[in-house]
Amino acid sequence: MRLRTGDVDDLEAIMALERASFAGDAWSETAMRAELASPHNHYVVAEQAGRLIGYAGLRAPSGATDADVQTIALDKTFRGRGSGRMLFRALLQEAAERGVREVFLDVRADNPAAQRLYASEGFIDIGRRPNYYPDGNVDAIVMRLDVPGWAASRASLSPMSENLADVGESRQNPPTSVRISDKPGSAGAGAGAGAGAGAGAAAGAGTAAEAGACT
Ligand SMILES: CC(C)(COP(=O)(O)OP(=O)(O)OC[C@H]1O[C@@H](n2cnc3c(N)ncnc32)[C@H](O)[C@@H]1OP(=O)(O)O)[C@@H](O)C(=O)NCCC(=O)NCCS
Repeated sequence: MRLRTGDVDDLEAIMALERASFAGDAWSETAMRAELASPHNHYVVAEQAGRLIGYAGLRAPSGATDADVQTIALDKTFRGRGSGRMLFRALLQEAAERGVREVFLDVRADNPAAQRLYASEGFIDIGRRPNYYPDGNVDAIVMRLDVPGWAASRASLSPMSENLADVGESRQNPPTSVRISDKPGSAGAGAGAGAGAGAGAAAGAGTAAEAGACT
């Protein structure tokens, strides 16, 4: 699996995965285009044999010390192999390198797989938004990560154990690191998907109906 920075050119492939992963509340193409184009956001995509199999987004306006996980999804066929964790860590690494101190996210109370992933990276529950999602009285669980603490725990791991643990692949095929870059685009054009738990909510506020995914 290869990771790289995602942008608007990935829109079509991302939308196919978005619709497959979030059947009832997928973001619209317009919202996703704005997400990918926003200079406040950083998207990472995962490719396998040249095909886009996953994506994850971070909202981290320049100079802000908090950020929001916007979304993450992996092609069903590739789940359960450590790829989602790898994608997620690439986002958190980006946050750390931008000087972000806290990352927030919302996750559906009926999504234990995502909750376990986030908790295992060090996110803690800080609140609940009752009946937040429009599709059936589902609460949002709000989570927060202390980024310097996360980065310190990552730094204490050896490169060898990292590669093996991350992707379950041999050392002959280690994960590719993610290039960090800002993308051009319209300021403040986010889809309103953000976790919205912290100050970052101001930059990405929106309703769950607009956003779907993690919100
Ligand atoms: C959430 C998602 C990205 C995780 O990707 P993944 O590649 O399947 O996850 P990984 O294999 O890297 O597993 C990472 C951790 O997630 C948790 N996890 C993953 N699948 C799980 C499952 N079926 N049940 C419980 N926990 C699970 C575990 O804690 C796992 O760590 P472990 O293997 O050490 O126990 C993927 O399941 C997905 O795309 N889901 C649909 C979209 C979605 O719900 N996105 C989140 C919106 S907030």
